[in-house]
Amino acid sequence: MARPQTRYVCQSCGALAPRWSGRCEACGEWNTIVEEGPVQPVSGTGGKRSPKGRAGRLVGLKGDEPAPPRIETGFCEFDRTTGGGLVPGSGVLIGGDPGIGKSTLLLQVLAALARAGRRTVYVSGEEAIAQVRLRAERLGLADAPVLLATLTSVPDILATIGEDDLPDVTVIDSIQTLWTPVIEAAPGTVSQLRAGAEALIRFAKQKGSCVLLVGHVTKVGQIAGPKVIEHMVDTVLYFEGDPGHQFRILRAVKNRFGPTDEIGVFEMSDRGLTEVANPSRLFMGSGSATPGAAVFAGVEGTRPLLMEVQALVSPSSLGTPRRAVVGWDQNRLAMVLAVLETHAGVRIGANDVYLNVAGGLKVKEPAADLAVAAALVSSLTTRTLPADLALFGEISLSGALRPVSLSDQRLREARKLGMKTVVTATGAELADTSGIEVRRLDDLAGLAAWIASLAG
Ligand code: TYD
Ligand code: MG
Repeated sequence: MARPQTRYVCQSCGALAPRWSGRCEACGEWNTIVEEGPVQPVSGTGGKRSPKGRAGRLVGLKGDEPAPPRIETGFCEFDRTTGGGLVPGSGVLIGGDPGIGKSTLLLQVLAALARAGRRTVYVSGEEAIAQVRLRAERLGLADAPVLLATLTSVPDILATIGEDDLPDVTVIDSIQTLWTPVIEAAPGTVSQLRAGAEALIRFAKQKGSCVLLVGHVTKVGQIAGPKVIEHMVDTVLYFEGDPGHQFRILRAVKNRFGPTDEIGVFEMSDRGLTEVANPSRLFMGSGSATPGAAVFAGVEGTRPLLMEVQALVSPSSLGTPRRAVVGWDQNRLAMVLAVLETHAGVRIGANDVYLNVAGGLKVKEPAADLAVAAALVSSLTTRTLPADLALFGEISLSGALRPVSLSDQRLREARKLGMKTVVTATGAELADTSGIEVRRLDDLAGLAAWIASLAG
């Protein structure tokens, strides 16, 4: 009989290695390979011969399946992100940096559900009952009938929530503390995560109860053992934000029951997380026009969002001028500067350049190019852009402006927030431009000429 083999598993990507080594060959991470004990065969499937399978039933695509029922939490932003509420029998993973507010959000969600008569259980493996109660007290939720337990062993959790009255929603905070006795590996290892999450998700599917798993993100931006958990659950949400700022964004990156890329915006206050129904106001800056400020009509997920881009261009005393960027891509800034210099005749290269996106937001869209260029030219020439102006458009290396996706939504959001003018590429397709002036530009030279014509 073969001796049960010890396995070496990478804790970052879950790859198996034949022996210990300092670096995982699959994902390249250092010091992530850990020795884990053999996996015990599940009784009944460990025989020498695998039993003959039973034929399943094949069916067609068409059927009259009802839409899955939803458990609405009453938190509009949370419901929007999940695609209309939690689905009974589903597994949801909520990832985020430690301290970003995952426990706070989920406690608030559970309290809202409990007050609406749902049976909810909060299983904490990280905090003691007293700590959770203190937080609930601080958030003004102590009277909500949420049931608490501090457990880390998966069989114990299943025995606790699986008895008599099934909860509608269970929160497990966090998957990193889960532990299954049949796996000979330390809590927090990939094997433990996988086994624990699998058991809990199986429970959710079998009993039709919704399980929310909290997972901490490691420094590389992934939940420890992410590939292992993400494919098992129905929905993956990330809770992100800048610790230096108050806003938090809940982002759906996978959703079997709704659209992905949907976002919910929250603000962290001393009374916990509050919803931000109109996030554009949060990222619009002071509203008073100064040289170097431009409003970008962006889209986060499917949601239009206006945000202020701020640039400061000042003569440099250094041989190599400084380029400092917060909230945008450094390489893209270098590109916009080069295109401005080469194709629009804007002499900017010898200056220090600082760029900042207000509110601590991180913008990844190329559509922000035009607003960045406008902010740079405005700061360099000390011409103030009108406060009721929004821009969007992508810059190509030839200096031409290119239309971007979702132009209509951007225009609508700008109009909704009282903008009088939008500046965009000539080719942008806009269906309804009533009530707002649209200034179409061909290239960056046109932008520079237009800004030069503004009052200083
Ligand atoms: P927490 O929910 O514990 O984060 P996570 O579970 O993601 O690790 O959030 C902790 C942070 O939130 C902590 O730094 C304090 C802050 N906070 C507030 O600002 N206001 C509040 O009302 C609460 C409860 C927490
Ligand atoms: Mg927590």
